Parts: sequence; structure tokens; C-alpha cells
Amino acid sequence: FPVERIRNFSIIAHIDHGKSTLADRLLEITGAITKTQKNKQVLDKLQVERERGITVKAQTASLFYEYENQTYLLNLIDTPGHVDFSYEVSRSISACQGVLLIVDANQGIQAQTVANFYLAFEAQLTIIPVINKIDLKNADPERVENQIEKVFDIPKEECIRISAKLGTNVDQVLQEVVKRLPPPTFNREDPFKALVFDSNFDQYRGVIANVALFGGCLSKGDRIVSAHLGKSYEVNELGLLKPEELPMERLYAGQVGYVIAGMKEVKEAQIGDTLYHQKHPVEPLPGFKPAKAMVFAGMYPMDQSDYSTLRSAVEKLTLNDSSVTVQRDSSLALGAGWRLGFLGLLHMEVFNQRLEQEYNASVIVTAPTVPYKAILSSPRLIKHGREEITIVNPAQFPDRSLVKEYLEPMVMGTIISPDDYIGKIMSVCLNRRGIQKNMVYIDDHRVMMKYLFPLNEIVVDFYDHLKSMSSGYASFDYEDAGYQAADVIRMDILLNGKPVEELTTIVHRDRAYSAGKAMCERLQDAIPRQMFEIAVQAAIGSKVIARETIKAFRKNVLAKCYGGDITRKMKLLKKQAEGKKKMRYIGTVQVPKDAFINVLKRK
Ligand code: GTP
Repeated sequence: FPVERIRNFSIIAHIDHGKSTLADRLLEITGAITKTQKNKQVLDKLQVERERGITVKAQTASLFYEYENQTYLLNLIDTPGHVDFSYEVSRSISACQGVLLIVDANQGIQAQTVANFYLAFEAQLTIIPVINKIDLKNADPERVENQIEKVFDIPKEECIRISAKLGTNVDQVLQEVVKRLPPPTFNREDPFKALVFDSNFDQYRGVIANVALFGGCLSKGDRIVSAHLGKSYEVNELGLLKPEELPMERLYAGQVGYVIAGMKEVKEAQIGDTLYHQKHPVEPLPGFKPAKAMVFAGMYPMDQSDYSTLRSAVEKLTLNDSSVTVQRDSSLALGAGWRLGFLGLLHMEVFNQRLEQEYNASVIVTAPTVPYKAILSSPRLIKHGREEITIVNPAQFPDRSLVKEYLEPMVMGTIISPDDYIGKIMSVCLNRRGIQKNMVYIDDHRVMMKYLFPLNEIVVDFYDHLKSMSSGYASFDYEDAGYQAADVIRMDILLNGKPVEELTTIVHRDRAYSAGKAMCERLQDAIPRQMFEIAVQAAIGSKVIARETIKAFRKNVLAKCYGGDITRKMKLLKKQAEGKKKMRYIGTVQVPKDAFINVLKRK
């Protein structure tokens, strides 16, 4: 296919602005899927994605489109729709020459619109602004066009107004893709060079790498090498994605497709890596970063007898997702398990949900923590002899006496909201140790604020909090902002005098008292009364800083039944048994499994 008639593009948008709906329409128009198929959002495959209505894993499709009597090959490279996956988004974008930037005609520019815009802008791509949902009663495309002009400096005449749902002006979107985007400039005569921008694992065929060819061509049987891992493979199968796989004999520069080459784990086809012919090594493409976990949590089977089942489920899931890091771990209270690292909180939730839904595994997940660093004052006292260590488990927090300085990860957050909520938002941000860096109006009554936050402060429930206090109007996105020195200490939680390692957290010194008190109160709420009194304490070192008491109580569910309705009795007994299944003994105390996470959530 001639390179001049290829266009590679992505759709980027804030969550729910209609990316998947537009992608479906584009597939329908070009006949890649039939209308009757009406396979709602074929591009979103995972069950959790459907449930939550968010795209987690990118899917890609090659479309053939007739324009002025010529056939064009349009490669729609789908991107994940969440901040946790911004690295994946940046890699998908680097395989394109342009993007469709979708903005909801009613909601206007949101935090993720801004973040995605900058990813495309920095990659110097052609940006086509698309205002979606113009069919909505309270749509205000005019206002959104003004925002786009003001915030992104794109003339408002360049915006296309569409309704992805009704199909209005969707054909025009494809025409503009052909007209405004440049074709890729890659050359077939150059040595073969391809970017891996996504990968999937198939039980029977192994790893399926999605690639964009930046030069040369690739045929079945070729020997290729992955630049960053330096491993070599033979190509067994390759082809186009339509969006299902369509095997071909060859792929050429400028095309996008899939490659199967005997890779056994997705870790072998890392996103951002470069493939080349073994006989013709090339410079790897810039921008490769190995996945960096920013949220860590312990994971344990509810019941130790489920350990091996859970282990195989975790192994299968990580085969599919190379960005999860896995370390074996064990705890006195919860037995053998793992410490897992995720890109962000949503990534962690998706993983847990898949474990429960696809593998029917019942797990305890401990409170998430961010990777702190400690600069040691006398490295020789520590067995590895390093100067700087990263702490992913609060229970292994090194003692102050060994440490010169602690560092915590920071993020730059973007918040967009109607200005009625400015006061409330500022106080929430202050409460999370946020430092305001900037505030601008994007139209008459909407503001965009920039805040520097410690990642730890926003990781658990900041977004929910922001949403609820702004009646759902505020949006939030963040990016990595390095490490900063922090005065943090380890706080332990004791149940009846015994420290529970899984409830240990790292807190800011100034907040230790209030955090300790809050955790004790939440545990008091979360742990049901039992046959004996339970003391819940928070301690710094040997000093107890907060305490709550859970009074003894014997829960007798049958007291509610008068008379002899036996089925009712059975039902209640069953309910109590089910309730117990969600409990775990810590020493002699029964603790509900969600308590480990809920203990960190603020009111
Ligand atoms: P993520 O996958 O989370 O990134 O969301 P998305 O951007 O793909 O949004 P999606 O396509 O799932 O659409 C979100 C919601 O908006 C769905 O309920 C759609 O039916 C609805 N929607 C999409 N386009 C339109 C439109 O043109 N008009 C109206 N009224 N609703 C639309």
C-alpha cells in the first residue's frame, strides 16, 4: 500500500467524552464491522472495562476508506483512557502523525483533555479538535470551541462538531483525517524498524505484539531482535488488525499491525521497545521507559489453602500485564502472599477485580502505599550496603537512626472545575498537603488549577472526595513530579496490644496524631463487636498516640426470629456464615477484609 495514502491516528479524550462510541462509528462507516453486528464498543474488550465504562487496554484497527476515488488506509491506534496509563498513551501517540482530540459539548475541557493534548502537542502531531455529543439538550459547542481556542491556541474554525451516538458528521471526521494529517514519512528501503506500542497474551499463540513500522518491511520467517531486552525471535505470523487479526505475508513501513514471534511473556514485548532485523541492527526509537510501579499493596488469599490457586491466577494475569510487579511476601497474620506494584490505583482495582471475576479468587488486599526512598546515613549498617533504598512495604521502613533523609514521590495535579467550588477545592488540596502552582480561567466560570501533591495524599480517595464535594463537576489528572524530602515516620496499629503489620502506614510527622486517631476510629467502625473487648491503638515506636475500644457483644441473629419460621432461621444463619467468610482472624480478632483498605479512606 503506498505510504502517501496511509494515515496513522489516535483518538484521545477525557473519560466518557465518547472515544469508544466514535471508534465504533468509524469502524461501521468503513465496513470493518457491520451495523447489525452492533457489537457495542468492540474496541473495549475486557469485562471490567465494559463494567466501568473505561478503556484500559488499547485496541487497534486498520480501516480502508474511499476519498475522492482513492482508497486510503487509516490506522486507528486506540489508547487507554486513564492517567495510570499515560506512558502507554504516549507510546501509542508516538506511532501516529495526528490525533482526534474529543471534547464533550456539554462538559467542555476536562483535566484529562489537557493532559492528553500536551502528550500530542509535545510529540508535534496534527491535532483535530472534535466536539462530541452536540445532540445533547444542553450542549454548548460554541463555549467549548472558545475554550479550545483559549487553552490550546487552536483556531475555533478547526473544530468539527459531531454526535458519535447519532452518527452526525462522523464521515467528515474521516475526510479531515485524510486531508489534514500528513502521511508517515517512513521509507521501505530503510532497514526494518518497528515500535511496540501494545502487547497481549494469548493462551495458545503466546504474545501478540502490536507494532508500527518506522522503516523497511517485515516478512514471515524473518529473525528479529527486541532492542532493550536484546533477545532474538523468528516471526511466525504477522498481519493487520481489523480489529481482529488478519494474517498477511508482509508488513511495510508506515503500516500498523501485529506480530507473533514465539515470545512467551508480555514482558518480552515491552511497550516502547524497538524491533529490528537481526542482520541490520538500528538505533532504538527514543522514549523507552520500563514500567514504573507507583502504588504497592500486599495481597493474600482469604484462606491459606487457596494459596496455590491464587498463585496461578496471579501468574496468568501478570502474563497479560507486564506493568504489574510481583514479589513474594509473607506476613505473620495473613500468611504467604505477594507484594504487588501497580502503575496507579485504578490499575490496582482493575487487577483485583479481574482476579475476583475471571479467576473467582477471594483475596485480602492491604492498604496501598507509595514507594518512599530513604538515604541511609551509614549504609554499611544495612546488609545491601546501598546508600539509597526504596521502601515499598511500610513494615520494612528503616529506623530513623539509620537514615539521613526520607524522600517521597510527588505529582503535579491538574484540576478543572466550575468556579463555585474554588474555595472548597482549595481547602481539600491544602488538607492533602497540596501546594498551588497556578490558577487560570478557561472560560467565564471554569478554572484550571495546578497543584503539587505528595502522591501518598491523593492515592486512596482524593478523586472520589473531589468529585463528591464538587457535585461531580471537578475533574482531576496528574503526572509524575519526582521526589522531595519529607518528614515521615512509621505508625503501627495494635489490636489488643499486638501490632498488625498489614496496617502499618507511613505518615507525615505533623499528621501522625490526627492520622492515628482517624485510623483507630475507622477500625472501631469496621471491626464488628466480638465476644471480648478489643483495644485498637496507634503507636509511633513504643509510644501509643491514639486508642479506641470495641466493646464486647454477642451477636445473636436468631433473636430477631420470633416463633418457628424455620426457613427464615436458615436464611439468617446462612447470612451470618457468609458474613464470616469475609472475615479474617488476626490473632483472636476477626477483621473484615475490606477494613485493610477502608482504614485509609477519609470521611
Ligand atoms: P472511556 O472508554 O472511559 O475513555 O470512555 P469513552 O470516551 O470511550 O466514552 P464512551 O464512548 O464509552 O461514551 C460515554 C457515554 O457517552 C456513553 O454512555 C455513550 O453512549 C455516550 N455518548 C457518546 N457519544 C455520544 C453522543 O454523540 N451523544 C450522546 N448523547 N451521548 C454520547
